Amino acid sequence: MSVQKEATQSLNINSFQKMKENNDKITCLTAYDYTSAKIIDNAGIDLILVGDSLGMVINGYNSTLPVTLDEVIYHTKSVKRAVERAFVVADMPFGTYQTNIDEAVNNAVRLVKETEVAAVKIEGGKEAAPLVEKLVSIGIGVMGHIGLKPQMINTMGGYKIFGKDGAESLIEDAKAIEEAGAFSIVLEGISSKSSTEITKNIHVPTIGIGAGNGCDGQILVFHDVFGLFTDFKPKFVKHYANVAEIINTAAKEYINDVKSGAFPDENHSFK
Ligand code: KIV
Repeated sequence: MSVQKEATQSLNINSFQKMKENNDKITCLTAYDYTSAKIIDNAGIDLILVGDSLGMVINGYNSTLPVTLDEVIYHTKSVKRAVERAFVVADMPFGTYQTNIDEAVNNAVRLVKETEVAAVKIEGGKEAAPLVEKLVSIGIGVMGHIGLKPQMINTMGGYKIFGKDGAESLIEDAKAIEEAGAFSIVLEGISSKSSTEITKNIHVPTIGIGAGNGCDGQILVFHDVFGLFTDFKPKFVKHYANVAEIINTAAKEYINDVKSGAFPDENHSFK
């Protein structure tokens, strides 16, 4: 007798448009490996981003800038192997799409071909619209990213909050990306009032990070939300678990058991 696996309906770019229309908040997290992606997919997360934040939480760099396309491809392949329901998006890392459109398109095509991801995320407002349009026209889904763009850290002069003096230019950016065909837009580091205004002014869903409660969905970095990354904690991060502490306690117990000879005991040895 064969055991039939319950059919899982996987999400696609249209799912998010419907969720916005139904006022159904979109839940998103980053993930970079098979095991983590499997856990959050089973928990029911809607979208998983293989973010270039991997440079900081996986590689220990000070910014996202050193991350390469090869690294994003490597991590996206692992995540894709795990996920059955969530929609997976892969970040285009710094330097892979800013220099010229042909190179950007080739890099995005490579990312899609090698990982089978359905959409990529690129940072940028109005200036990124021609690239968004081109990618969408050849069949690659695009998630936009405006406000605080971590790949611009050197010219921004540090991490700061956008939209404090009004949402006008951010709305222009969001509209340009929407008109170019992006299926959703990440709003990062934007005042709550401005994010709410942007969200009301565009038709595609907004996904906030450090952008208050007025967005259509929220995203956080896996290692932040579960308390694994402890170097610093931005104000917008909420720890839903303290996994670093749990691992620390368990690791000490393991060390003691090995030192004392309590592990492995008979239950964990072969006769
Ligand atoms: O790289 C990343 O993880 C991101 C999200 C935090 C939006 O861009």
